[in-house]
Amino acid sequence: MINMQIDTKQTKGIISRYIYGQFAEHLGRCVYEGIWVGEESPIPNTEGYRNDVLEALRKINIPVLRWPGGCFADEYHWMDGIGPRSQRARMINTHWGGVEENNHFGTHEFLRLCELLETEPYISGNVGSGTVREMQQWVEYMTFDGESPMAAMRKENGREQPWKLPFFGVGNENWGCGGNMRPEYYADLYRHYSTYVRNYGGNRVYKIACGPNTADYHWTEVLMREAAGLMDGLSLHYYTLPTGNWSDSKGSATEFGIDDWFSTLKNTLYMEELIVKHSRIMDKYDPEGRVGLIVDEWGSWYDVEPGTNPGFLYQQNTLRDALIAGINLNIFHNYSQRVKMANIAQVVNVLQAMVLTEGDRMLLTPTYHVFDMFKVHQDAERLEISFESPDYKHGAEKIPQLSASASVDAGGVIHLSVCNLHHAETASIRCGLNGAEGKQVTGSLLTHSSLNAHNTFGNPDEVAPVPFTGARMEAGELVLELPPASVVVLSIV
Ligand code: AHR
Repeated sequence: MINMQIDTKQTKGIISRYIYGQFAEHLGRCVYEGIWVGEESPIPNTEGYRNDVLEALRKINIPVLRWPGGCFADEYHWMDGIGPRSQRARMINTHWGGVEENNHFGTHEFLRLCELLETEPYISGNVGSGTVREMQQWVEYMTFDGESPMAAMRKENGREQPWKLPFFGVGNENWGCGGNMRPEYYADLYRHYSTYVRNYGGNRVYKIACGPNTADYHWTEVLMREAAGLMDGLSLHYYTLPTGNWSDSKGSATEFGIDDWFSTLKNTLYMEELIVKHSRIMDKYDPEGRVGLIVDEWGSWYDVEPGTNPGFLYQQNTLRDALIAGINLNIFHNYSQRVKMANIAQVVNVLQAMVLTEGDRMLLTPTYHVFDMFKVHQDAERLEISFESPDYKHGAEKIPQLSASASVDAGGVIHLSVCNLHHAETASIRCGLNGAEGKQVTGSLLTHSSLNAHNTFGNPDEVAPVPFTGARMEAGELVLELPPASVVVLSIV
């Protein structure tokens, strides 16, 4: 029996809802086909946005959506994507498959999508190949409420009122696809560009600097030292690869055995070490914790599905991805004093997606279900949870068998999310609530007898949550039996 304790006597600050952020890049079939089909499409749509995808995404309460990239952002010139669609510039998406980009989905379309999803926009600006002026004008175009050339142009293009722009990223991966810069050089560019990202009228922009790639602690050190005072957030990108290596063969999304299951989950847990070490550096320059760590790209990255364009990053999503999502979200909750936003890559048809589409069909992935189950934690107060996890041993290696986090919402309901990483062993847990009056427990469970189970267009509900019957209250304590390879979210009232 594993002893767990949730300290219900004191709360530890809000779990920002922005941790449940998403990311939509002009990449493969994410924006085009996945979200935007155009008004003339036979696929049922609202103003050109697919109805099925809108409906599915609304249900998981997406708090923030990042766009237009990714690597695409540092090649994107926003003026190409405004005005009558038939007159918009056509270009090559050099980064992602060399396909034509017709710019039919631009600033107006993105901001309208955010309105339809009731989500907040997070726009990534172009530092790699764009000018300071271009960035300044984009923010003016979107947010200035007065007489100015950019506001006039916006009005000519059909939008009278300015939009709210809460989040703006000053470049993306400027250590790589965004210009191959050294941190010293980018820190100066960040200071320069961000100066012109203005707050017009009542709009307040939360400015996010390009942060490190994975374990590049030097990048964090330099950015915090040189520019912390001018930023609100610093990004971090870390993807889970089964092998941990960016080799040509990353491994299949669906064809894997226990070795890959274990190594993938081990690599997922590495996120905690990254957050701890980057936070330590941030603490040195920002002891009050004002600057948020913004994990604006995370998730699994496998080989693309056989027969699909390698530049489109289209992959399937199995029970293993459900565990990856649950583990990462638990980590973000447990470090929510520094992690203020996270954006899984990406929302539709790319990498660890929420939904996959094929023609007029759509399916929900296991990752979608985890986001749906976990959404109860959005903006809830974090509760400290302590336990000693048994080891999950595999060959000569071991990792913790359990991942967990807890919160209490505004209505006083306690929520506990637990993942059992072990592919074969059940976990029996007894959880104290520190005297809280827990009387009733309900919950949902996501698991399957096959580790590589996934949803297909022919069988879209193969992996789906079911009510969890393995938990009960006993003398004020919670007793639960977690099946192997499972994700569970409980509500205690
Ligand atoms: O999400 C796919 C790509 O991964 C993004 O464009 C880039 O920022 C990262 O390398």
